Amino acid sequence: MNNFTFNVATDIRFGKDRLHELTAVIENFGQRVLLVYGGGSIKKNGLYDRVLKELADFKIVELAGVEPNPRIETVARGAKLCAENEIDVILAVGGGSTIDCAKAVAAVHGSPNEEPWAVIEKRNYAGAALPIVTILTLAATGSEMNRGAVITNWQTNQKLGMGGENLLPKVSFLDPQNTFSVGKYQTAAGSADIMSHLFENYFNTTPATDVQDGISEGLMRTVTKNCPIALATPTDYDARANLMWASTLALNGLTGSGKGGSWSCHAMEHELSAFYDITHGIGLAILTPRWMHHVLNEETAVKFAQYGRNVWQINETVPMMAARMAIQKTYDYFKACGIPMTLPEVGIEDDRKFEVMAKQAVAYSKIATDAFVPLQVEDVVKIYQDSLVEQNYL
Ligand code: NZQ
Ligand code: ZN
Repeated sequence: MNNFTFNVATDIRFGKDRLHELTAVIENFGQRVLLVYGGGSIKKNGLYDRVLKELADFKIVELAGVEPNPRIETVARGAKLCAENEIDVILAVGGGSTIDCAKAVAAVHGSPNEEPWAVIEKRNYAGAALPIVTILTLAATGSEMNRGAVITNWQTNQKLGMGGENLLPKVSFLDPQNTFSVGKYQTAAGSADIMSHLFENYFNTTPATDVQDGISEGLMRTVTKNCPIALATPTDYDARANLMWASTLALNGLTGSGKGGSWSCHAMEHELSAFYDITHGIGLAILTPRWMHHVLNEETAVKFAQYGRNVWQINETVPMMAARMAIQKTYDYFKACGIPMTLPEVGIEDDRKFEVMAKQAVAYSKIATDAFVPLQVEDVVKIYQDSLVEQNYL
């Protein structure tokens, strides 16, 4: 295990009906609030009204309409609102896109002499930032308890991760009831994203990480058990609660600290979203089994077999066979969740852009050198091509 610092000081307010605590939380930071939210789901499910009621005594400025795969133009609009209204604190109410947008707004606001996209392109943000409070409405990204944000520049077809110490949310409200209204597609996509965060940390070459791997396997079992329940019964509190807490723990440093490496499927998926604006978790679900199969060899089979044994109860003793069975299980599980498992089903019909996307995936990450199995441009193109058609790994 590598050395690491684990210091994730987000104050988590988990559980039912805790919105009455919001006033006291916001008061700690000031009176002028930038309320950031997405395309309207919080208006439909009543959360918007409840938040405004709690914050009746505050000055509220709204940044509405944050799009899935949030755009730099929206970030810039938010930073402008912060400056014009001398905002004290940003309150993000929504999923990962809304929270990421809030973080990027804080960073761009803290960099008044730089172009907004230049702030994102630096990837690491070390400057000052307005405090961020979140009310999470979708179990997926872990953005509610981490320092990262992912922003899209549609003009240049770039989708880049950035992050920094001061972008960690100060307080996050996690009420599973706020995810009851998440539809089947986004529930499945969010759960695939959680699984992918766990896979990205789990399939890694750093030795002796039993703690991280054991936690990851437990969280994977949690997701594979509870996602189908939430799909069948969207208002099942316990299923939603387990998915929500799993999403937070999967990407708050708990399963990744102490490990080196570079994430493979995320680097490849960000290009799918950057060029075709698809849902992040769906892209990951499509790529993951293809990636697993592409990197499967005598050496990596042992870890895939461990995953199969501890997550899917596969007792096959020949590692290569157990690994194939585990990959097939992964494929079948995503499919059973209703996820379209080929690229044409999400509107990506041909391989015209695969080369340029693969080049960007390699350029913007360290997958060519540091990944579980290093991936070059031709590997990424092959994984995209395999994603055009159905696969069977047995
Ligand atoms: O925009 P609204 O109307 O709110 O609707 C959203 C959106 O259409 C809807 N939704 C959210 N909560 C809902 C709801 N619908 C009904 N009821 C609710 N309670 O769901 C749709 C998707 O929302 P979005 O925020 O885009 O989803 P998600 O949380 O999956 O976030 C995805 C974004 O996060 C980035 C992704 O790349 C993508 O841009 N990521 C951020 C990470 C991070 N900050 O650490 C890591 C991840 O790997 C990921 O890359
Ligand atoms: Zn993700």
